[in-house]
Amino acid sequence: MSKLTQLLCLAELDQQQLSALLDLALDIKQSPNNYRHALQGRSIALLFEKPSLRTRVSFDVGIHKLGGHSVYLDLQNGAMGERESVEDFGSNLACWTDAIVARVYSQKTLVRLALSSKKPVINALSDIYHPCQALADLLTLKEQYGDISQVHLAYVGDGNNVCQSLMLGAAIMGMDLTVVTPQGFGPDAHVLLKAQEIAQRSGAKLTLSQHVSSAAGADAIYTDTWLSMGTRSDPALITEIFSPYQINTAVMQRLAVKHFMHCLPAHRGHEVTSEVLDSEHSLALQQAENRMHAQNAVLVSLFS
Ligand code: CP
Ligand code: NVA
Repeated sequence: MSKLTQLLCLAELDQQQLSALLDLALDIKQSPNNYRHALQGRSIALLFEKPSLRTRVSFDVGIHKLGGHSVYLDLQNGAMGERESVEDFGSNLACWTDAIVARVYSQKTLVRLALSSKKPVINALSDIYHPCQALADLLTLKEQYGDISQVHLAYVGDGNNVCQSLMLGAAIMGMDLTVVTPQGFGPDAHVLLKAQEIAQRSGAKLTLSQHVSSAAGADAIYTDTWLSMGTRSDPALITEIFSPYQINTAVMQRLAVKHFMHCLPAHRGHEVTSEVLDSEHSLALQQAENRMHAQNAVLVSLFS
């Protein structure tokens, strides 16, 4: 199995690597003491061009639990490249740190950081992908269902970064994924093509639809915000377009779906009602907890 050297996008992983990462994440979750020196002497930069609760805290706490040290850089008042170039940022950070975790406006910034720093870069969310989230989501499904190749997941909402990383993850793992979006809000064509290519090899089933009814019979329904950070659309128009895609108790019952998933933050009363989000069927907090274990598996893999 080839070694993990960065995580800009889940398509960098094959099934064996992704499966091994999920197994490692479970082991770290179950036996944290075995990994408490895994990052000893390592310093990791956390760069955030956009706000975060889960990603920031789970990386910071997770790195501490592995015996490492993190340095948080708040870039929320300006994207990288304004005071000095992204390349100068990357090459300077590489002088002191062992890896860079970055949440950025553009996936291209991650590529530039990786090239200039020659240190592992981990995508903590970009315009196109959110691989750490998808890893935690797959880990959550593995805990619930065991063999995730047998799981049918339905994503309902905006075809955004979270959806696109789920598509790649599901394709790699041979899952059944139904993506339901309003017309004009589907996933990026290049990501779709990549996911379809991978699915052909793994036996995954990817279905695109504009009808919520296509999610009927899925094991879990996943949704996310209708308006991602950095998206400049009219909120009133978005609410009008997406309202028929809200996940509420009536929808969960009509479609006979057991579990509900959300990456959070949730916009209660918009993409999901509180009744569903706070119900016993919701896996949202398990997903949030699993962010740390999944990311720690990535970090341990990078440095082992
Ligand atoms: N799910 C997630 O990435 O949450 P944050 O934006 O709070 O980090
Ligand atoms: N799609 C959302 C995810 C937030 C974790 C966004 O990019 O804002």
